[in-house]
Order: sequence, then structure tokens, then C-alpha cells
Amino acid sequence: MSMAKQPPIFPNVQGFLHGGDYNPDQWLAYPDVLERDMELMREAKWNVVSLGIFSWVSLEPEEGVFTFDWLDEAVERLTNAGVRILLATPSGARPAWMSAKYPEVLRVAPDGRRNLHGGRHNHCYTSPVYREKVRIINQKLAERYAHHPGVIGWHVSNEYGGECHCPLCQQAFREWLKRKYQTLDALNHAWWTPFWSHTYTDWSQIESPMPHGEMSIHGLNLDWKRFVTHQTVDFCRHEMAPLKEVNPKLPVTTNFMGTYPGLNYWRFRDVLDIISWDSYPRWHTHETLEPEAVHTAMVHDLNRSILKKPFLLMESTPSVTNWQAVSKQKRPGVHTLVSLQAVAHGADSVQYFQWRKSRGSCEKFHGAVVDHVGHANTRVFRDVQAVGEMLERLAPVAGAEVQADAAVIFDWENRWALEDAKGPRNVGLHYEETVVRHYAALWRMGVPMDVIDEEQPLDGYKLVVAPMLYMVRPGVAERMKAFVEAGGTLVLTYWSGIVDENDLVFLGGFPGPLRELAGVWAEEIDALYDGERVPVSAAQGNPLGLAGRYEARELCEVIHLEGAEPIALYDGEYYAGMPAATVHRVGNGTVYYVAARLDQGFMNEFFSRVADQVQLRRALDAELPDGVSAMVRSGDGVEYVFLMNFTPAPREVKLDGKTYTPLFGEAPNAGMVRLSGYGVSVLERPAL
Ligand code: GLA
Ligand code: ZN
Repeated sequence: MSMAKQPPIFPNVQGFLHGGDYNPDQWLAYPDVLERDMELMREAKWNVVSLGIFSWVSLEPEEGVFTFDWLDEAVERLTNAGVRILLATPSGARPAWMSAKYPEVLRVAPDGRRNLHGGRHNHCYTSPVYREKVRIINQKLAERYAHHPGVIGWHVSNEYGGECHCPLCQQAFREWLKRKYQTLDALNHAWWTPFWSHTYTDWSQIESPMPHGEMSIHGLNLDWKRFVTHQTVDFCRHEMAPLKEVNPKLPVTTNFMGTYPGLNYWRFRDVLDIISWDSYPRWHTHETLEPEAVHTAMVHDLNRSILKKPFLLMESTPSVTNWQAVSKQKRPGVHTLVSLQAVAHGADSVQYFQWRKSRGSCEKFHGAVVDHVGHANTRVFRDVQAVGEMLERLAPVAGAEVQADAAVIFDWENRWALEDAKGPRNVGLHYEETVVRHYAALWRMGVPMDVIDEEQPLDGYKLVVAPMLYMVRPGVAERMKAFVEAGGTLVLTYWSGIVDENDLVFLGGFPGPLRELAGVWAEEIDALYDGERVPVSAAQGNPLGLAGRYEARELCEVIHLEGAEPIALYDGEYYAGMPAATVHRVGNGTVYYVAARLDQGFMNEFFSRVADQVQLRRALDAELPDGVSAMVRSGDGVEYVFLMNFTPAPREVKLDGKTYTPLFGEAPNAGMVRLSGYGVSVLERPAL
């Protein structure tokens, strides 16, 4: 099916953005450097910068004294050089005068102590003083630049994160709880507080979870995390208000941090115009890039799925980070490969931290386009240039959509509850890894996927995979049932349907509200020590046609059939002969229940059969060699197929008989594309 392209993310920008963080405020004493930057940006094929991210002290050196001259000059220089601007609001770090005069702006740590001034992201989201200071500076920026032709959008703050336990936040938390629960009785029930005599008799007794205080009420821990997200989103809205007031058309984004556990990014969906994220995988930890590539692919998909439209790769490193254990360089070819991967999964930009390496402070050895040597004659600069050239070639792809038949659920609230629980394996339930393992099986087949949370609509998908759906919030089971009855295929696993939205355990048998749909009752879950394995084999004559022998590790649920039939059976332990995986037909659809953490051999076989059965759309109707991934974006009557080799060795990819025109990278020859080590190819084909 052919899809129309999305309108461009930024009304006046065609093609891809290529650029990144630019900090001229660090170089004001070096005018020649600032001049040279423009020439070098042209050479690097940069067409966008994120400007002024941590510039507050340069904009307001004293309370109420504003110095925009340097920013005016930077904006003019960039605009004249044809480089567009994502203008930042500076709230990620603040001037020392503010902390000294108004200590309430400083964050209070979970140990109850107020932080000293320093670092960044060290502010209270609740503080009326901080909010007012942010409003003033944002309004000044908006009034001055929101209609400037070079400014295409706002980059608000930077990587929102962390939490504050100050008295103002405690009070705001209590107010939030009052709005949510109305009565203390309702709160006490939801939090199961008679346990250890923790019943609250006055709202003022409630405190945020702190290691030297209350940490044992799961409902409290969960609500605190929800509150932190709420307060951060509210702060983001507050930042945006003056920007939107001055120019409602200028789009706003803020940069996310992948699967950062502290914020449920889905809650930003109604606030932001564009989703963007900062990607810093540790490449080269294995012989192939596959492990990091799968994870990165999944996070790209997650970011695209939030607004279901192209996103921005707001930061990545042109070479190395300097905060990981080892600052390993990307091997030749890898920068192009991983930049293209973002594009393949729906990014309409490749952006970096940072333009120029700083001379001092803690990021002076972080990778940058321009090194301390100061010229363009470096390997990294040429790598960046090459990506710029690639993006120019790929310009028609910008705005093209990713159409996914399959969705994998990765849910923040589920993760919070699951990871907070004591048992069944305190040495690791591995929620994120488990989601990645499920995702990986389909990634290897070149199946485009959305990555959604459990609250998203399911219609439109053929397959939904919900690994470890421990928390089932109201409406989820009903939506899943309707999806399956209408013909969808749902994959559920062990340790699902255990708690409700308050982290209260479902009574009456697991998987709780999913029990009828799964057609199984999970009586017990056996947790294994690391290294232990339980053999499992395909059930004879099973309808999926599984034929292998597998191993389970870490978690084995003991389940009873209630309408489902087995597709695999345990071969060991006291549950030998009992089902390890089942299938249940419901309405026009199918539910699989995988009761144990089975090996990748099972996952690959299982998902390839499921994919065939439900006829999942793949980027290429052909087997992909090991370590090669394929994605497809759909434009106006055309499809762009991306082939990416995440191994250092050459790979041959057999095409599927359709007509392909090469757009970038290795060209097809006699129905094959030969990819060199870390090689890429982008091919165009007519949409059917
Ligand atoms: C984050 C920040 C940047 C920079 C990079 C370094 O993504 O947003 O300011 O510190 O990390 O990798
Ligand atoms: Zn606070």
C-alpha cells in the first residue's frame, strides 16, 4: 500500500537536517574561530545548529541585565551562511547568581539535602522563582528571535531528567495525590498501607520515597514516578507558553534520552510538536555491531511511534563520547552506517553533539566535528562531510513514513512496577532486554515495527507483541480482546497480568484480566539461578509447525490450559510435560502465550512462523544474511529500501524480484546487492 509523505517537519525546510549543538558563547574571546566556523560548517555540509543550549549566563550575566548582542551576531552569521537555527531555551543550567540569591531553585536530592550550585540539570521543577526566571528569559528570546527567518524551531531545555525532593515538590506531590485519589481512604487502599502499619491519617504525612524514609510502599513509589513525569511535562509546558504566545507556528521539541527510566516520554506527546532524541550507543563492544544496532533500532522506532511521524536524531557523536568506560572510535564506514540507520527508521535529521571540541571543562575530549587542531583535514570531519553528502542525495526520502504491521509494547509504568517488585528474581527481571530480544527476532527479518506503550490503539496492526506485561491498566485487556477478535495476533509471555494500575495484585488467577484471552491459568512461576536451564521442545503436531528443541532460563511459569493448546512443552523439572508455550484462537484472531524465557533459537523460529502466518510486511521479501538489517520508508508512490550491514565482513543480499533503482551506496547487480563490511545501500522501488 502506498502512503503519502508527511508534510515537512519544519514548514520551510525541504530534505534532511544535518548539524548539531553549537556553543559560540564559549568562544566569544576568539572572534577568528567564530568566523572560521561558518566556512567549516559549509564544508561539513551542515545546515542546522542547536544554538544556546547552556547559554543562560551569557544571556543574563546579572539578574535582569540581558546581553543578546553575541547571540544576535551568531544568528546573523549563521543565517547568512545558510545554516538554520533550532534556538534553545537555557533552562538546563543556570547562572551562579541565581542559586546564590534564590536557593530554592536548587534541587534537593533523595537524601533530603539541598544540592550546591553546579553541574547542570540541577534545578527544582516546582520552584516558582525558577519558573518565573525561565519564563522571563524564554519570553525575551521569543520576542527577539521567534520571527527571525533563520530560526526554524525551539529546542527547549536539554535532556529533562532527575527529580527534586524539596518541600515545594513534596507539597506539589501531595496536591497531585489529592487530585488523583480525592480521599485518603482511596489512597490508603490503593497503596495497601495497613501493611507494616503505614496507613496515612493526614495528607501532610506523605513524603516522597527516600532511602532513609519510605521505600516499601510500591503504590507510593509508582505514583512518585508518575508525579515526576507530570511535573516535568508541566515545566516543559510552562517553558513553551511564552514561546507559543509570540509565534504559535514555530515548532517545539526537547531532546529525549532513549529509554531513560526516569520519565515516561509518552506523556510529552500532547505537548511537543516534534520528537527528538540523543543516541549514544557503545559501538564495537562485540565482533559485530548487531547487539547495539538492534537496541538502537528499537529506540528509533519508539521515538517515531510517539507521534507516528518522522523524528529528529538530535544528538549523536561524530566520533566518540567521553563519558563511557572506553572512548572507542567508530571504525571506517560506521559513522555513515549508523547515521543512515536513524534515517531508515524515520529520522529526518542527523545531528551531533558537538560542533567544536571545547578547550576546557569536562567535555573537552568528547567527539566533535572540529577537533582542537581547528581544520577540516581530519578523518572525523571527512566522515561528517560524507554523511552530509549522503543526506543531500537522499533528500527525497525526508518526510517518508514507516508503515508498520507489527508493534512491540515497551511500557514505562510497567517497567517501573516490574522492577520495583521484590521477586521473582531480584538479580534481574531484565524487562528492557526482554523487549529487545522479542524485537530482535522480527528486526532480523526486516519487519518494520512500531514500539508503543500499552495505552496506544492496536487497530491497524496485524501483530502485537507484549513481553512481560506485568501491569495491565484499565482498558488494556479490553483493547487487546477487541484486537484479537477482529483478527489480530497477540503474543503474551510469562509474568503478565500480575498487577493493576496501582501495583495491586490481581486476585483470582494470573494472567489476571488477560486470562480468558490467553486461555491459560498461570499457577506458579519458577525462578532459576543464573546458568540454570530447563529443556523445552516443540509439541508434536503443533499448529504453528515448530519442530525444535530449546532451553528456558531465568523464568519458567507453570501454566494450565483453559482453552489454549500447547505448541511447546517443558522437558524437565517437576513441570516436565506441561505447556511452555500455547496458542489460543479467539474470534478471528490468535493469542500466543510463551510461558518461559526461551532462547533466541525459539524466538527466531517462533517469530518467523508467526510472521509468515500473518503475512507481515517486510522491507524485502527475502531472507537477510546474518547481521544485515533492512527497513523501508514509503513516500509518494515510491518506497525506499535501506540495507545495512552491521558486520565488518562483506554480505550478499538477494533481492526479491522487484525493480530497484540505486539511490545511495552499493548498487544491485543481477538481483543481488553486495554490501562491503559496514556497507549500506538505499534502493528505490515503485510502491504497489
Ligand atoms: C548529552 C547532552 C549533551 C552532551 C552529550 C555528551 O546528550 O545533551 O549536552 O553532554 O550528552 O554525550
Ligand atoms: Zn523541588
